[in-house]
Amino acid sequence: MAQKYNVMTFGCQMNERDSEILAGMLHEMGYEKTAHLDEADVVILNTCCVRETAENKIWGRIGDLKALKSKNPGMIIGICGCMTQQHEVGEKIRRRAPHVDLIFGTHNIHQLPELIARVKEGRKTVVDIWETEGDIIENLPSKRVEGVKAYVTIMYGCNNFCTYCIVPYVRGRERSRKMEDIGREVKQLAAEGYKEVMLLGQNVNSYGKDLTPQMEFADLLLELDTVEGVERIRYMTSHPRDFTDRLIDVIASSRKVCEHFHLPVQAGGNNVLRRMNRGYTKEIYLELVQKIRARIPHASITTDLIVGFPGETEEDFADTMDLVRRVRFDAAFTFVYNKRSGTPAAEMPDQVPDQVKKARIQELIEVQNAISLEKNLAEVGKVHEVLVEGLNKSDPTKLESRTRTNKLVLFKGDRKLIGRIVKAEITEAGTWHLDGKLL
Ligand code: SAM
Ligand code: SF4
Ligand code: F3S
Repeated sequence: MAQKYNVMTFGCQMNERDSEILAGMLHEMGYEKTAHLDEADVVILNTCCVRETAENKIWGRIGDLKALKSKNPGMIIGICGCMTQQHEVGEKIRRRAPHVDLIFGTHNIHQLPELIARVKEGRKTVVDIWETEGDIIENLPSKRVEGVKAYVTIMYGCNNFCTYCIVPYVRGRERSRKMEDIGREVKQLAAEGYKEVMLLGQNVNSYGKDLTPQMEFADLLLELDTVEGVERIRYMTSHPRDFTDRLIDVIASSRKVCEHFHLPVQAGGNNVLRRMNRGYTKEIYLELVQKIRARIPHASITTDLIVGFPGETEEDFADTMDLVRRVRFDAAFTFVYNKRSGTPAAEMPDQVPDQVKKARIQELIEVQNAISLEKNLAEVGKVHEVLVEGLNKSDPTKLESRTRTNKLVLFKGDRKLIGRIVKAEITEAGTWHLDGKLL
């Protein structure tokens, strides 16, 4: 009987994609996937450390695995990803969790087969974390999540060093994949039947700056827009600082690139934005939103927001609320600022007390939820082109689909429609999703 593996993923889509590669390598080694941890021979935790909550959850999981390992001593437990890549954390895991067999980082996931071989040879924990990034390695095996959407990493790392953020320290410097390699991958995905590709990078707008000859993200979109079979192209995440007029034009005139702009603003106060090292002001951001809406009036705009950044005053927070009310985002991910050791903001004076952070985030969520609901209610009666992604998990009698603007639409219909683009009329709206009927 084949040996089995389970890969658990925490964090963002970049990690989801890396996990598909880990799974691909395990398949090539002859392992089969299992959803049941107690029958797994290899368990890999692909970790995140963007906020403390993520890390706490992972420490909990590492703890849970101890009992499993005592029942199944042959089990190989591996931990990789952003958390292990932090200063001294790999060592801390080795000390605190001796049941872990293998600790590696974000830069050497391609080494998984040799690392597992090293575990099998010896009795000591294998710790292999690269300090810096290596070259991009193409053509690694990959076992993708089945469905209609596929992730495609177009660049690795981040050079922005927003002062609150750990990502540049654990993901290394920006490196872009060659356009030919991305094009080949997207064509392959189309041939396999995927209808949508999501292009991934921490800051996709700086795609190609490190290539020779230099390329722009807009060039990549133009190229991918011509791939037969792919119906929709999305990307994540774009930084408001590098969003050029040309990029807006290319998106406006392309057939497949969706009219959804996820533009994390983080805060509305200019002092806070400067200390966050975001490279734009509230005014510049509002101007960008206005430019997008002038060019593509039906575009949706979503964002990420942080409250309680060190030194954030009542006035700064009022500026964030004012921005939220002025832009009227379709949706927002809201976070309480969390100290990440090794980042400049962790050392800044005037850390905001927890109760203040809590009160501010509650106020923000309340206002944003009301706006999200109002914007969704405005969709009622409209007809949207939706891509049917699958059955709804909580109500499997309904299909789950998305508009080009990335709104979730549920409707009754034949499961044969999964993978197809159909027209739906919106009949009802909530804060998080729309209900519709098939036309
Ligand atoms: N690269 C993307 C960008 O710049 O928008 C997103 C990266 S991060 C994985 C996703 C979000 O987490 C950020 O947009 C930010 O709002 C939030 N985040 C990052 N560091 C944080 C911290 N220390 N505390 C709270 N939220 C944080
Ligand atoms: Fe973090 Fe800023 Fe890079 Fe996004 S752009 S990953 S928030 S440093
Ligand atoms: Fe987390 Fe790493 Fe992504 S820190 S959010 S998994 S890049």
